[in-house]
Amino acid sequence: MDILLHDMMIEPIGYCNLHCKMCYTKHCASVLAPETIEDVVRAYLDAVPGALRLYWIGRGEVTLYKYLVPIVNRLSEQHPDRISHLIQTNGIKIAEIARQFSGRTLDNVKVSVSLDGFEKANDANRGQGTFQKIVANIKQLVAMGVRTNVQCILTPCNVNDAIAFEQFVHDIAPGSNVQFLYPVVTGLSKLCFIYPLIKPFFQVNH
Ligand SMILES: C[S@@+](CC[C@H](N)C(=O)[O-])C[C@H]1O[C@@H](n2cnc3c(N)ncnc32)[C@H](O)[C@@H]1O
Ligand code: SF4
Repeated sequence: MDILLHDMMIEPIGYCNLHCKMCYTKHCASVLAPETIEDVVRAYLDAVPGALRLYWIGRGEVTLYKYLVPIVNRLSEQHPDRISHLIQTNGIKIAEIARQFSGRTLDNVKVSVSLDGFEKANDANRGQGTFQKIVANIKQLVAMGVRTNVQCILTPCNVNDAIAFEQFVHDIAPGSNVQFLYPVVTGLSKLCFIYPLIKPFFQVNH
């Protein structure tokens, strides 16, 4: 049986500009050399026929990787019929990055933005003010014609609003889809997950 890759997941960076309470990753300062990434991609394309999607994600935030724009643009120019890109981002500076993409990249890129529900629920995990910034970035991506989807961790804070939230995303990004993620509960994130469940037991009735 032949098994061909359709997605090559690349984690070029280990640090982040947010400190989400639910985050399961262990951040680090490591950065992948751009030459290493390009060598691996070229070797794959030489060895295996067909299309390949590069799935750019960080153990932190991939938009902080200073070589992201040049590599993505270069590979898009060199292999317009074989390479496409999926970028997973926290959405804080993705519009600024997308503005630097070439026309060929914009034809072959999809962006998946993390947004964990409406403002209160999202900001409880991702930090105060992040909802407004992420939504502004999604709107700018849509205005640029970038195909944009949303990933949302389901928590007790947002689960009751999930359908309304999905509708909200469809309104700001027509044609998008929302992928709801089952929460992986570890360490500190347990508090975020468990607190809304136990909160009623601490409330005093007057
Ligand atoms: C680790 S993040 C890295 C990419 C980027 N920084 C972001 O936030 O989208 C990748 C995905 O994992 C999700 N994630 C983080 N912690 C999680 C958890 N405890 N359970 C489920 N998904 C989680 C994020 O929401 C995001 O969709
Ligand atoms: S933005 Fe992504 S990598 Fe950064 S802390 Fe949040 S979930 Fe983790």
